[in-house]
Amino acid sequence: MALITTEEMFKKALASDYAIGAFNVNNMEIVQGIVEAAKSEKAPLILQVSAGARNYARPAYLVKLVEAAILDAEVDVALHLDHGADFEICKKCVDDGFTSVMIDGSKYPFEENIALTKQVVDYAHDHGVVVEAELGKLAGVEYDVKVDARNASFTVPSEAKEFVERTGVDSLAVAIGTSHGAYKFSGTPYLDFKRLAEIHDLIPDTPLVLHGASTVIPEFVDKCNKYGGKIPGAQGVPEDMIKEACKHGVCKVNIDTDLRLAMTAEIRKYLVEHPEEFDPRKYLGPARDAIREMVTHKIRDVLNCSNTK
Ligand code: G3H
Ligand code: 13P
Ligand code: ZN
Repeated sequence: MALITTEEMFKKALASDYAIGAFNVNNMEIVQGIVEAAKSEKAPLILQVSAGARNYARPAYLVKLVEAAILDAEVDVALHLDHGADFEICKKCVDDGFTSVMIDGSKYPFEENIALTKQVVDYAHDHGVVVEAELGKLAGVEYDVKVDARNASFTVPSEAKEFVERTGVDSLAVAIGTSHGAYKFSGTPYLDFKRLAEIHDLIPDTPLVLHGASTVIPEFVDKCNKYGGKIPGAQGVPEDMIKEACKHGVCKVNIDTDLRLAMTAEIRKYLVEHPEEFDPRKYLGPARDAIREMVTHKIRDVLNCSNTK
């Protein structure tokens, strides 16, 4: 069992309309909960590390945790850098043994995004590592859903084709209406599936990536709030919309917020019900179990990638 790239898993997913979960990891319990779910579901797995995760846990710990999980659970894992901001962090992760990196040049003008992405692609490919890039800007939490603003930010299909051809990037994150965090829509959820289908038609062999894809599972929000949390108005991407996206070339679905909510809800519940308890294992154990159950649900019922290994 080993660290692997996403090449083969994306090829199969693209041909069969399912997607692979890319789950953000920050500590041991999160890694273990996710890996246990993927193992029991016989599902391909991407574990991803953000710059924030690297700062929190420190890079060596995260790489070693994932290596330990591979040994212990006997699974293959793609280890991915999430939202690499510049060439240097991508290079560092390639050198550290990551099998996939994201260069997020979405904040730059088109030509600059191409130049930066190409620089990362050249280095990563020389080292057997695959690259994800992003074109179009994801909506912010405060995003005002007006058509003009939407058109200005969402990925332009013709640009996506040119971008992929000129950079040689392996997968592309697209902006079609999702956003990061727990507050994705202020009204009715809307994703631009027509745009997604156009992009997929123009670059049918390029795996597409959906960021900001947490469902913000109401059960966990409610549990947080029942046990002292204050998370009003949270709203995520409905599961049916994730399933629909998988039919239009989306092969990688990024999930972080649902992990945070599952974990926090369980810890809140445990501590409120056991106010005398102060052994971290007592509440981190149930939190790990909650992550395993939530990830199992995603893999089995939403991403449809159980038994695809
Ligand atoms: O895309 C953002 C991910 O949820 C990572 O979040 O930067 O707080 O680790 P973070
Ligand atoms: P969520 O905040 O919807 O979980 O998105 C996570 C993500 O896109 C990580 O890159
Ligand atoms: Zn993201």
